[in-house]
Amino acid sequence: MRIAVIPGDGTGPEVTDEAMKALGAVVERFGIAVDLEHYDVGGERYKRTGEVLPDSVVEEIALADAIYLGAIGHPEVKPGILEQGIILRLRREFDQYINLRPVRLYPGVETPIRGKGPEDIDFVVVRENTEGLYVGAGGFSAKGTEREVAIETSINTRHAVERCVRYAFELAETRPDRHITFCGKTNVLVHSHDLWDRVFNEVAAEHPDLTCDYANVDALCLWMVDAPERFDVIVTENMFGDIITDLGAVLQGGLGIAAGANLNPEGISMFEPIGGSAPKYTGTGKINPLAAIAAAAFLLEYTGHPEAGAALEAAVAEVAGSLDSMRAGRMGASTSEVGDLVVAALTAARSQ
Ligand code: IPM
Ligand code: MN
Repeated sequence: MRIAVIPGDGTGPEVTDEAMKALGAVVERFGIAVDLEHYDVGGERYKRTGEVLPDSVVEEIALADAIYLGAIGHPEVKPGILEQGIILRLRREFDQYINLRPVRLYPGVETPIRGKGPEDIDFVVVRENTEGLYVGAGGFSAKGTEREVAIETSINTRHAVERCVRYAFELAETRPDRHITFCGKTNVLVHSHDLWDRVFNEVAAEHPDLTCDYANVDALCLWMVDAPERFDVIVTENMFGDIITDLGAVLQGGLGIAAGANLNPEGISMFEPIGGSAPKYTGTGKINPLAAIAAAAFLLEYTGHPEAGAALEAAVAEVAGSLDSMRAGRMGASTSEVGDLVVAALTAARSQ
């Protein structure tokens, strides 16, 4: 298996090192041959050369079986350039139309939601990953003047909505609760979310065995905190998915443990921790690598190695439960020590 690795900016490279260390241990155990190809893209390269993501790199990545991304975002680069030019471009270039973000509280990990435990916090957000407000459809008129107009248009195509909703229903078929919620804002977004709503109901009719639900995004935020146990699979548009999955990350202990997958089920998928480059922690050994290691577990799971992925995720869960906190600087161990603990957990599981 060939993996294109983009460590990226800030703490991205240090968490990627730990993820690759853990990945190396698990693929050895399962006898999977892995070839890692590292690519230097991110804020530093942009500052040095002006290049964001050269076409030649995209062409090389197109030969890989999967992409692993550490983190992108540099304090000295204007917001949007790297995010649009690297993360969003890769998602679009490889048509990674599903952003899958499991929200699972591992036993022993502290959640800020009082009275809730692992049995309550276990759901998956299926976020549409190619459209909506992320397309960049818009423009300015009279920029910089008193009469400036700024337009950002949400694009929703039948094709993309339907493939996302279908994926979410198929996922719900495999879940213990067999329950799916469409998160929208049909009372205000009377065009785009009308389309989503119709597609959701059409596909629901093909899955009479599942229970289906609808929640406006604002109410859903309230319920995620107040009653997270009511969710199993949540399907939503790109921007809402971005927002609610940061909230989801808090429920599961923080960005230190939250990982996601940008999936093209028929093509090349990309795996990343949900958090950003956390520049202030760069090189301090304080950042939690578990989210990055969990992303590597998802990579294995979704590239045809579910057993290896499950073994790595189990090791992540075990180590998560043993740390003081998921937060940077409060884990009770350094970044590389946490990586070592995951490798040790894998080894211990093997000898059992
Ligand atoms: C995420 C991030 C990205 C997004 C940014 C960095 C473009 O917040 O993966 O959730 O908005 O999708
Ligand atoms: Mn986000």
